[in-house]
Amino acid sequence: MLIAERSTCGSLPGAAIGKISTLCSGHRNPSPCASGLRRAFVEHVRSRPGSADYAGRVSSLPERLPRVSALRYVTPLREGGSLPAVMEADDDGTYVVKFRGAGQGLKVLVAEVITSEIARVLAIPTPELVVVTLDEALTKYERDEEVQDLLKASVGTNLGSDFLPGSFGYDGSRPPTPGLAARILWLDAFALNVDRTWANPNIVVWHGQPYAIDHGASLWFHHSWVRKAPDAAAFSTRAFDASSHVLAEVAAPVRSIGDELAATLTDDVLQDVIGLVPEEWLEPTEQLAGPDAVRAAYLDHLRARRDAQAVWTEGLP
Ligand SMILES: Nc1ncnc2c1ncn2[C@@H]1O[C@H](COP(=O)(O)OP(=O)(O)OP(=O)(O)O)[C@@H](O)[C@H]1O
Ligand SMILES: [Mg+2]
Repeated sequence: MLIAERSTCGSLPGAAIGKISTLCSGHRNPSPCASGLRRAFVEHVRSRPGSADYAGRVSSLPERLPRVSALRYVTPLREGGSLPAVMEADDDGTYVVKFRGAGQGLKVLVAEVITSEIARVLAIPTPELVVVTLDEALTKYERDEEVQDLLKASVGTNLGSDFLPGSFGYDGSRPPTPGLAARILWLDAFALNVDRTWANPNIVVWHGQPYAIDHGASLWFHHSWVRKAPDAAAFSTRAFDASSHVLAEVAAPVRSIGDELAATLTDDVLQDVIGLVPEEWLEPTEQLAGPDAVRAAYLDHLRARRDAQAVWTEGLP
């Protein structure tokens, strides 16, 4: 098992490695395509020139996020600002779980789902996501008070990201190809994700391949919905400052692939991606009466942003 032989396991402290090494055999494989329609869609992505340099795993867009139940809290990932943790689930998988009860609230889980699944559509490697149900009974076994409070506040559905055993944080030693780097940069500009700098690369390298992680800071426009009406137009042309992006130096010219990537994000694709967000994470506001209205607001924003890509890619390298 890789993890027992390497000095790193994700970014886990050494003491945790032995603990987790017993679980890593449960790592999930890329799920098979759910339907013929999805298979056709994946082939379409594979054959796009912009993805020709990516010879790794291209996952399908799932029909819905798989649902699993948490069995065991394994260890916290202390460096994560949202107190994520590694958990074992009833499908024999091991997941990095982002908790609904963490300070940032449900919207960061929504952003994580939407932007990660858009990444997948753009042939950007990113760990598969699942919805992890946490039962109240599990909270009683945790001795650490801070963790127990977090678990108690997180009973219900949380977000799991397939744990990539033996991965390490991006340090520039295994850069993505220029094409993949450009797609990641375009994605971050599209979703206004400022959280991929040298201070916090949010890329892990697994089996030599970079994986984009941690998209909770993207789509920040939704935080204003509690105060004011959604305004897709204001978001659509917002400039993105790529000067401190961790891949700015290695990316191929982003503008040259913008039209192609925007064309990949058809209305149907965006709708499917937004449809993956569990209903109970879509918080209603005064303007947005229920989950359908919230989904429609995300679709408005993402469509408007896509259609304005000639404007916001102008300043990009
Ligand atoms: N799927 C994964 N497999 C392996 N390691 C992971 C995975 N997801 C996250 N990690 C590790 O856990 C760390 C924290 O994860 P992440 O960045 O998603 O959490 P966060 O709370 O949003 O962090 P921050 O806000 O500090 O960036 C990552 O830097 C990475 O080292
Ligand atoms: Mg992070």
